[in-house]
Amino acid sequence: MIAALTGFMASGKTTFGRAAAEHLGCRFIDLDELITERYGTIKEIFESHGEDFFREMESRCLMDALSLDGNIVLALGGGTVLNRKNCELLQKKADTIIWLDTSFEIILSELKNADRPLVNGRSLDQIKDLYEKRKPLYRQIADTVVSIDSFDYSIAVNDLSDAIAGFLKN
Ligand code: S3P
Repeated sequence: MIAALTGFMASGKTTFGRAAAEHLGCRFIDLDELITERYGTIKEIFESHGEDFFREMESRCLMDALSLDGNIVLALGGGTVLNRKNCELLQKKADTIIWLDTSFEIILSELKNADRPLVNGRSLDQIKDLYEKRKPLYRQIADTVVSIDSFDYSIAVNDLSDAIAGFLKN
Protein backbone atom coordinates (compact mmCIF):
# COMPACT_ATOMS: atom_id res chain seq x y z
CA MET A 1 0.00 0.00 0.00
CA ILE A 2 1.33 3.39 -0.90
CA ALA A 3 -0.19 6.56 0.53
CA ALA A 4 1.33 9.51 -1.33
CA LEU A 5 1.26 12.93 0.32
CA THR A 6 1.10 16.01 -1.83
CA GLY A 7 0.95 19.69 -0.94
CA PHE A 8 2.90 22.93 -1.02
CA MET A 9 6.39 23.35 0.40
CA ALA A 10 6.34 23.31 4.20
CA SER A 11 2.77 22.01 4.33
CA GLY A 12 3.91 19.26 6.72
CA LYS A 13 4.26 16.33 4.30
CA THR A 14 7.46 15.20 5.99
CA THR A 15 6.66 16.10 9.59
CA PHE A 16 3.09 14.80 9.72
CA GLY A 17 3.76 12.01 7.22
CA ARG A 18 6.59 10.61 9.32
CA ALA A 19 4.53 10.79 12.53
CA ALA A 20 1.46 9.21 10.90
CA ALA A 21 3.61 6.42 9.41
CA GLU A 22 5.09 5.70 12.82
CA HIS A 23 1.65 5.71 14.41
CA LEU A 24 0.31 3.25 11.82
CA GLY A 25 3.41 1.03 11.67
CA CYS A 26 4.18 2.00 8.06
CA ARG A 27 7.49 2.67 6.40
CA PHE A 28 8.05 6.36 5.71
CA ILE A 29 9.82 7.56 2.59
CA ASP A 30 10.51 11.18 1.80
CA LEU A 31 11.14 11.82 -1.88
CA ASP A 32 13.43 14.81 -1.19
CA GLU A 33 15.49 12.66 1.18
CA LEU A 34 15.79 9.93 -1.43
CA ILE A 35 17.01 12.49 -3.97
CA THR A 36 19.46 13.91 -1.41
CA GLU A 37 20.86 10.48 -0.54
CA ARG A 38 21.57 9.80 -4.18
CA TYR A 39 22.52 13.14 -5.72
CA GLY A 40 23.32 15.65 -2.93
CA THR A 41 21.23 18.29 -1.22
CA ILE A 42 18.33 19.87 -3.09
CA LYS A 43 20.10 23.23 -2.82
CA GLU A 44 23.31 21.84 -4.34
CA ILE A 45 21.42 20.16 -7.17
CA PHE A 46 19.56 23.37 -8.03
CA GLU A 47 22.76 25.43 -7.83
CA SER A 48 24.99 23.08 -9.81
CA HIS A 49 22.63 21.57 -12.35
CA GLY A 50 19.44 23.67 -12.35
CA GLU A 51 15.78 22.88 -11.84
CA ASP A 52 15.30 20.75 -14.98
CA PHE A 53 17.96 18.30 -13.83
CA PHE A 54 16.41 18.23 -10.36
CA ARG A 55 13.01 17.39 -11.88
CA GLU A 56 14.54 14.50 -13.83
CA MET A 57 16.12 13.07 -10.68
CA GLU A 58 12.84 13.60 -8.85
CA SER A 59 10.96 11.57 -11.48
CA ARG A 60 13.55 8.80 -11.32
CA CYS A 61 13.34 8.55 -7.54
CA LEU A 62 9.54 8.67 -7.69
CA MET A 63 9.49 5.72 -10.06
CA ASP A 64 11.74 3.74 -7.70
CA ALA A 65 9.72 4.62 -4.61
CA LEU A 66 6.46 3.65 -6.27
CA SER A 67 7.78 0.22 -7.14
CA LEU A 68 8.37 -0.74 -3.50
CA ASP A 69 6.17 -3.17 -1.58
CA GLY A 70 4.78 -2.91 1.95
CA ASN A 71 2.73 -0.27 3.72
CA ILE A 72 4.43 2.96 2.76
CA VAL A 73 3.71 6.61 3.43
CA LEU A 74 5.46 8.57 0.69
CA ALA A 75 5.97 12.31 1.09
CA LEU A 76 6.28 13.92 -2.35
CA GLY A 77 8.01 17.21 -3.08
CA GLY A 78 5.83 20.27 -3.52
CA GLY A 79 6.55 20.28 -7.25
CA THR A 80 6.36 16.55 -8.00
CA VAL A 81 2.85 16.93 -9.44
CA LEU A 82 3.98 19.59 -11.95
CA ASN A 83 5.04 16.75 -14.24
CA ARG A 84 2.19 15.00 -16.04
CA LYS A 85 4.04 11.68 -16.21
CA ASN A 86 4.64 11.76 -12.47
CA CYS A 87 0.90 12.31 -11.99
CA GLU A 88 0.01 9.40 -14.26
CA LEU A 89 2.42 7.14 -12.43
CA LEU A 90 1.06 8.23 -9.07
CA GLN A 91 -2.50 7.58 -10.17
CA LYS A 92 -1.52 4.12 -11.35
CA LYS A 93 0.65 3.02 -8.44
CA ALA A 94 -0.44 4.87 -5.30
CA ASP A 95 -3.41 3.44 -3.40
CA THR A 96 -4.33 6.90 -2.20
CA ILE A 97 -3.09 10.42 -2.84
CA ILE A 98 -3.65 12.81 0.03
CA TRP A 99 -3.40 16.59 -0.21
CA LEU A 100 -2.24 18.35 2.91
CA ASP A 101 -4.19 21.56 2.42
CA THR A 102 -2.27 23.62 4.94
CA SER A 103 -3.16 27.25 5.56
CA PHE A 104 -0.79 29.87 4.16
CA GLU A 105 -0.25 31.22 7.67
CA ILE A 106 1.17 27.89 8.86
CA ILE A 107 3.23 27.43 5.71
CA LEU A 108 4.80 30.85 6.14
CA SER A 109 5.76 30.19 9.71
CA GLU A 110 7.38 26.90 8.65
CA LEU A 111 9.12 28.38 5.63
CA LYS A 112 10.97 30.79 7.89
CA ASN A 113 12.94 27.86 9.31
CA ALA A 114 13.77 26.33 5.98
CA ASP A 115 16.21 26.86 3.16
CA ARG A 116 14.36 26.11 -0.08
CA PRO A 117 15.66 27.11 -3.51
CA LEU A 118 12.22 28.04 -4.83
CA VAL A 119 11.51 30.34 -1.89
CA ASN A 120 14.85 32.09 -1.48
CA GLY A 121 14.80 35.48 -3.18
CA ARG A 122 11.01 35.48 -3.64
CA SER A 123 8.82 38.11 -2.03
CA LEU A 124 5.86 37.21 0.16
CA ASP A 125 3.49 38.06 -2.69
CA GLN A 126 5.39 35.82 -5.07
CA ILE A 127 5.28 32.90 -2.63
CA LYS A 128 1.56 33.45 -2.10
CA ASP A 129 1.11 33.54 -5.87
CA LEU A 130 2.93 30.23 -6.27
CA TYR A 131 0.83 28.76 -3.44
CA GLU A 132 -2.41 29.81 -5.16
CA LYS A 133 -1.21 28.59 -8.56
CA ARG A 134 -0.22 25.18 -7.21
CA LYS A 135 -3.42 24.58 -5.24
CA PRO A 136 -5.55 23.40 -8.22
CA LEU A 137 -2.85 20.85 -9.10
CA TYR A 138 -2.94 19.33 -5.65
CA ARG A 139 -6.74 19.43 -5.56
CA GLN A 140 -6.97 17.73 -8.92
CA ILE A 141 -4.71 14.78 -8.18
CA ALA A 142 -5.77 14.07 -4.60
CA ASP A 143 -8.51 11.65 -3.69
CA THR A 144 -8.53 12.85 -0.08
CA VAL A 145 -7.91 16.26 1.44
CA VAL A 146 -6.62 16.76 4.96
CA SER A 147 -7.04 20.39 5.95
CA ILE A 148 -4.44 21.72 8.33
CA ASP A 149 -5.31 25.08 9.79
CA SER A 150 -4.34 24.63 13.39
CA PHE A 151 -0.86 24.80 14.89
CA ASP A 152 -1.83 21.75 16.97
CA TYR A 153 0.49 19.04 15.70
CA SER A 154 -1.55 16.15 17.11
CA ILE A 155 -4.75 17.12 15.24
CA ALA A 156 -2.91 17.03 11.92
CA VAL A 157 -1.25 13.69 12.69
CA ASN A 158 -4.58 12.15 13.77
CA ASP A 159 -6.45 13.42 10.71
CA LEU A 160 -3.73 12.20 8.39
CA SER A 161 -3.51 8.80 10.12
CA ASP A 162 -7.29 8.41 9.76
CA ALA A 163 -7.08 9.21 6.06
CA ILE A 164 -4.43 6.51 5.54
CA ALA A 165 -5.73 3.82 7.91
CA GLY A 166 -8.46 2.50 5.62
CA PHE A 167 -5.92 1.64 2.92
CA LEU A 168 -3.50 -0.41 5.05
CA LYS A 169 -2.81 -3.94 3.84
CA ASN A 170 -1.94 -6.92 6.01
C1 S3P B 1 9.81 21.99 -4.41
C2 S3P B 1 9.55 21.53 -3.15
C3 S3P B 1 10.59 20.93 -2.30
C4 S3P B 1 11.73 20.35 -3.12
C5 S3P B 1 12.23 21.34 -4.09
C6 S3P B 1 11.15 21.85 -5.05
C7 S3P B 1 8.70 22.63 -5.17
O1 S3P B 1 10.00 19.92 -1.49
O2 S3P B 1 11.32 19.18 -3.78
O3 S3P B 1 12.80 22.40 -3.37
O4 S3P B 1 8.82 22.77 -6.41
O5 S3P B 1 7.67 22.96 -4.56
P1 S3P B 1 9.08 20.23 -0.19
O6 S3P B 1 7.68 20.37 -0.68
O7 S3P B 1 9.28 19.05 0.66
O8 S3P B 1 9.61 21.48 0.41
